[in-house]
Amino acid sequence: MSNQVLIDKLNREHNLSFSEWVRLLAAPTPEDVTYAGSLARSLTLKLFGRQIFFRGIIEFTNICHNDCKYCGIRCSNQQVSRYRLTPEDILTCCEEGYALGYRTFVLQGGEDNWYNDDRMTALIKSIRQAYPDCAITLSIGEKERASYQRFYDAGADRYLLRHETADEAHYQLLHPASLSWKHRMQCLQDLKDIGFQTGCGCMVGSPYQTPEHLAKDMLFMHDFQPQMIGIGPFIPHRDTPFRDFAPGSTATTLLMLSLCRLMLPRVLLPSTTALGTVQGDGRQLGVLAGCNVIMPNLSPLSVRRKYLLYDNKVGTGDDAAAGIRKLKEQMQAIGYEVCVGRGDYQG
Ligand code: 5AD
Repeated sequence: MSNQVLIDKLNREHNLSFSEWVRLLAAPTPEDVTYAGSLARSLTLKLFGRQIFFRGIIEFTNICHNDCKYCGIRCSNQQVSRYRLTPEDILTCCEEGYALGYRTFVLQGGEDNWYNDDRMTALIKSIRQAYPDCAITLSIGEKERASYQRFYDAGADRYLLRHETADEAHYQLLHPASLSWKHRMQCLQDLKDIGFQTGCGCMVGSPYQTPEHLAKDMLFMHDFQPQMIGIGPFIPHRDTPFRDFAPGSTATTLLMLSLCRLMLPRVLLPSTTALGTVQGDGRQLGVLAGCNVIMPNLSPLSVRRKYLLYDNKVGTGDDAAAGIRKLKEQMQAIGYEVCVGRGDYQG
């Protein structure tokens, strides 16, 4: 079976077998990437039109007690200048974002112990109260179910927690011994059960990744049926153990994004900052390959350069207004427009 036949099958049936995924992902040709991209793009246009959802991301702390080997803000990186925005700072970011038209705020941070459940819950409640018409998305890592429940009850709507890899042995190669794949999977299940619109996802080209791992990622996402998927290329950070590994390929990342669209047609799929970092027009290519979300940065300019999960991150020099202006221009240049609204998952 040629790869195009497999892509057609995916488009029709929204699933493939493990061996079919491996075949498709082991040696994709440029024609495969283009073909999957054009099918994914048509499907996205049919379901969402030319509207791209915008989410304002507030990177509120780069303090992290974890030590993930790929991540620039891992706790053993002594080169990072650490910061933590106060709840008041965060509310100011929301105010600025609201005025710019954002109706989703994504609070993303390292696993920072100062932001314990009480402080997080209080923060969520104050954002919920000030912005009843906005969605609140959290991206603050692994917690116990009771904590997730408190955040949900306080008014958070969505949660992003990439699974990173669906292969347990691969997970252990990317993470310190203190982290477990089973707990990560448990977290994702808890989030979904509680009622969060839940996002999972992985990096493309992470160290030691094989086509079989990517095939498992696709099967896991098919089973899990997330409302959101975050996928971007791995990019080495100079102060991590993975500094000498090559970045993930743009083409394979675009292919994975298109395949996710074909597998889960209604999924909310961001064209990531990492994609825009490996290639200047990466985020536009992501949209043309089936993405329908962009997440511009709302963090204060003063801390932008301190939230570096990988090297050469784009957008660290623009303030919130300039960032969104540029992204709007980029979207308009390819015939898409920014959609003001919460942009919830429509199942
Ligand atoms: N390159 C690309 N993505 C990274 N992330 C963390 N470090 C890197 C890196 N070096 C991703 C992880 C994490 C998300 C917030 O950022 O997948 O879940």
